[in-house]
Amino acid sequence: MLLGLAVLAWGAAFAVNEATQAWFMRDIALRARLAAVGTQGALAGHLESGDGRKVAALLEDLARDERIMAVEVCTPTLASVSRTKSFPEQFSCEALRSRAPQGVLPAELDFSDEIDGGRVHVSIHRIDDDDVVRGALVLVHDLSFMARRELAMRHFTLAAFGFVALLASILTVFVRRAWWRSWTDELRRVLLLARWGGGDAKLRARNAFQPLLADVRGLVADLAAERGSTVAPWSAARLQHVLRENLHGDSVVIVANREPYVHERGPDGAIRVVHPASGLVTALEPVMRACSGTWIAHGSGSADRETVDRHDRVRVPPGEESYALRRVWLTKEEERGYYYGFSNEGLWPLCHNAHTRPEFRAADWLQYERVNRRFAEAVCEEVQGPDPIVLVQDYHFALAPRMIHEHLPRATILTFWHIPWPSAERFGICPWEREVLDGLLGSNIVGFHTQQHCNNFVEAVDRFLESRIDRERQAIVQGGRECLVRSYPISIDWPNRWAAAAPPAAECRATVAAELGLSADALIGVGVDRLDYTKGIEERFLAVERTLERFPHLRGRFTFVQLAAPSRTLIETYRQLNERVEGLAARINGRFAAGTYRPIVLLRAHHEPPAIFRYLRAADVCYVSSLHDGMNLVAKEFVAAREDERGVLVLSRFTGAARELTEALVVNPYDLEEASAALATALAMPPAQQAERMRAMRRLVAEFNVFRWAGRMLVDAGRVRQQGRLSDRLTMGLRPVEGARS
Ligand code: F6P
Repeated sequence: MLLGLAVLAWGAAFAVNEATQAWFMRDIALRARLAAVGTQGALAGHLESGDGRKVAALLEDLARDERIMAVEVCTPTLASVSRTKSFPEQFSCEALRSRAPQGVLPAELDFSDEIDGGRVHVSIHRIDDDDVVRGALVLVHDLSFMARRELAMRHFTLAAFGFVALLASILTVFVRRAWWRSWTDELRRVLLLARWGGGDAKLRARNAFQPLLADVRGLVADLAAERGSTVAPWSAARLQHVLRENLHGDSVVIVANREPYVHERGPDGAIRVVHPASGLVTALEPVMRACSGTWIAHGSGSADRETVDRHDRVRVPPGEESYALRRVWLTKEEERGYYYGFSNEGLWPLCHNAHTRPEFRAADWLQYERVNRRFAEAVCEEVQGPDPIVLVQDYHFALAPRMIHEHLPRATILTFWHIPWPSAERFGICPWEREVLDGLLGSNIVGFHTQQHCNNFVEAVDRFLESRIDRERQAIVQGGRECLVRSYPISIDWPNRWAAAAPPAAECRATVAAELGLSADALIGVGVDRLDYTKGIEERFLAVERTLERFPHLRGRFTFVQLAAPSRTLIETYRQLNERVEGLAARINGRFAAGTYRPIVLLRAHHEPPAIFRYLRAADVCYVSSLHDGMNLVAKEFVAAREDERGVLVLSRFTGAARELTEALVVNPYDLEEASAALATALAMPPAQQAERMRAMRRLVAEFNVFRWAGRMLVDAGRVRQQGRLSDRLTMGLRPVEGARS
């Protein structure tokens, strides 16, 4: 700013100086002409009469003017007649001959020049008398006053510039202070609203954070880009490298209830491969492709037995066959007790704040124990050496880690709990709380999505088991054996294979609209979930209803499409949920339907990933309204689907994903005012803002992808393994030599 002001001041001074100089010159020329005209008659007379004395007296009179420095009168042939004292020789009559071409004097001549005393203006005026040239009058004006005025002007400009600069600096400081104060006041207000406000106020408050968050995200992205120049982003290849470097290429065994590929016999008798609706499968399948090894799972498909070899194995993915799927067969009784019973009527509601009462039955517990043992045995059959890497997945296998450790004490066991871990107080509801905790502590590392779940787990161990808790290292020590507790937020593969295979957004939109009979300008909302009470599907529909109540212009235009995969249908609460969701959709449709328009389209069926990605890519808004969710990968899949950087994610704050995807419109799904305001905001959001939010979320999911999730766990497993080997060597070194005296 100072530099700008200086340039401005210099320019102004230059322009003013030029203008005044020109003005002074014109003024002097005018004065000279007036003086010459005033004396013309008298001088002509004196020259004609040859009265040199009178000419000299007239010149003295003229020189009395303070600006006239010297005067001379010349004959027509430019010889001096008379001159005042100290007339500068270079302007004498003789010297001026060079300026009179062929000795003919011009009527008037002006010029300025430098002499010893400074700058002067010289004007020559011919003295005529009735067309007879009598001589010439030479006037020399002093111009030194101009230099003095120029200097004064420069000083004035400098002083004015100094003053303006000072004023501007003071003003800047004040304005900046006021701006900073208003910014911090606004931030404080927004924080208070976000904490204590209700409904729309909260949403507005959270949205007010977005520019700040966008800046922070931008900064993080820049830093990541800088770092990226030296460290490669996480990918399948980098994960393979980690496996080679940190675990010496040892193959991995995964234990998970759900299998990544289910073989089902269709009504036409043909066998088809189904991708189950499971966040666990979404995340782990790409990891397994990268790592190879064996995935041990419950064979639940109607044609699963027909597709395995005599060791109950089948190579998958079909056509690619990069790893083995080992199927474990369960009897109806086992499945009912272990999967439906203890896992999904006991642990599932216990771990989710979704207001469904957990049910614990001793018979279920026995089946749970039994099935965990069967899977542990399957692990022992599948491993290739005494120290395999075993990844135990989820709440179905809380007891398996201890059982595996008992059979394979040198195995490195990593257990990941895909759902929330409740508070210690709540966990105490489980009648087998000690057994569950002890089973998990058979692992070398237990992982959760969030630090909060880690803390809850450590508190539960502290409350119910005898152990030493090393809070600094986040480790639990029991009988000299250590189990680390770590948070590893799960994610999806990136670049995402389903997104890569999906058609462009415009095509997805056109096919979805055609399938559902929607108008070309319809606003499409989408939800993709298993039909589970934790997903908040009822709250979602109520939010759609409230949106249509509050924003009537959306009636007839906004349609919410819910893809709902039937899940755990043998459980009564799921059956009831099914009916409630259907009834609610029908009631809301009854209220707002008009012609072919229905506000809610409930598609209750299993959808394969290509169809899901088509819907995600066609939508204007995706609403993930889980009442409690460890992570929720649908939110991340929506982000992956939107290469076009369009569409808005409305996300429940009770999901793990809300901690990462902060550019979503984060809402409390129970607060219908807030959720409906968010839906309306999303539907009206300008494309530029959609793109800004989507870009930031895509950057985040791209960097924090599932290869990073698995890679971090495997690096930690590598360290644990290394430490184990070193301490084994140490104990062997210290073992007393047989026969030596102790
Ligand atoms: O989040 C728990 C979880 O096991 C997920 O991993 C998976 O998305 C979902 O439940 C699948 O449930 P189920 O295997 O019972 O269909």
